[in-house]
Amino acid sequence: MPVSKKMTAAAGGASMVRKMFEEGTLLKAKFGPDKVFDFSIGNPDVPPPPIFKETLSAIIAQDRPGIHGYMPNAGWPKVRERVASFLTREQGQYLQNPFTADHVLMTVGAAGALNVIFKSVLDPGDEVIVPRPYFMEYNFYADNHGAKIVPAEPGEDFHLNISDIRSKITTATRVVLINSPHNPTGVVYTLEELSELGQMLSEAGKKIGRPILLVSDEPYRKLVYGGMDVPSVFQAYPYTMIGTSYSKDMSLPGERIGYAAINPDMPDSKPLFDAMSMANRILGFVSAPSLMQLTMGELQGVTVDISYYEQRRDLFVAGLQKIGFELTIPDGAFYLFPKSPIADDSAFVNLLKQENVLTVPGRGFAQPGYFRICYCVPETTIRNSLPGFARAFAKAKTMK
Ligand SMILES: Cc1ncc(COP(=O)(O)O)c(C=O)c1O
Repeated sequence: MPVSKKMTAAAGGASMVRKMFEEGTLLKAKFGPDKVFDFSIGNPDVPPPPIFKETLSAIIAQDRPGIHGYMPNAGWPKVRERVASFLTREQGQYLQNPFTADHVLMTVGAAGALNVIFKSVLDPGDEVIVPRPYFMEYNFYADNHGAKIVPAEPGEDFHLNISDIRSKITTATRVVLINSPHNPTGVVYTLEELSELGQMLSEAGKKIGRPILLVSDEPYRKLVYGGMDVPSVFQAYPYTMIGTSYSKDMSLPGERIGYAAINPDMPDSKPLFDAMSMANRILGFVSAPSLMQLTMGELQGVTVDISYYEQRRDLFVAGLQKIGFELTIPDGAFYLFPKSPIADDSAFVNLLKQENVLTVPGRGFAQPGYFRICYCVPETTIRNSLPGFARAFAKAKTMK
């Protein structure tokens, strides 16, 4: 059966993360799982909190009529109200209006949320500006709706480079997409930079005659360390939305549950909400999985024990710095993004692979010269991998 040209190209250029993950499976079969150090994919290994299973089991046991049936495409109203109340408690103190059920739409993960948002606001030919490095699936999400990603240069230590974002704005710009805490760098944007970005977008929107939407992709919001507070984008600019999920902070990526939220201070947002409900339906999601909605409705504010990730981050950063790697200590998410000791990040990732250490080259995030490590692995894997990192580093130094 002939496959479309677009999908033939997309499938041929499989993501570097996926490629590495698949190679890891082969290497583990060959050498044994304890001899392969797989840091390729952000698949949380910390189990979901026990209350997740208890709540899900209780909901199933109650066997309320209709819970497995169709519902409004935006999701169960009660669940959306609970998420809205949580958002008002978490981020509403600086807003004029509270979040309501009409600002929250339950989605099939953060990926589903971004696709619903994009379908609702993008026309063919529109542009989405995103700072490098970035999660490369965004290219597909924009393309799904006939739009394209326009990368912006990173600022210092991978913070926002607002003047570069400004320089990329054209009459085709509909969305600026950011991600904080960030994959792959772990950077959390400060309130100052978000406010500066909001200010710049307000001015740019006036110039092009319509608002530019700021979308923040936030599946790692609750995975931050040292008691850090993640500043709210809603506070920075009225035309904001978030797309998020429970994939990472509840370790539920296979359950495909998340939501999109609209800033309650955004003027005239009801048509946007209606468009999103329709988009959820016609993208084929129809609505987010019912049992997961009902369960997460009861568990607002619950997260996995993030101290596991913090300990791993500290162990890994100390080990890599001792070897001589240059890296910024991430504030959140579960990734490290060290500088490759040689300019060719793919070549360095291959040196690591010869040590059975699997990472992803920075070019897989549109940022050559770096590589990404995911630390969703037990501490022993980190400890046992360090000699391999040291040997690859030493080899790379002889290649300079
Ligand atoms: C930055 C970023 N956005 C979105 C997603 C998609 O998350 P979900 O599983 O909730 O669809 C991921 C998953 O790795 C991610 O890293």
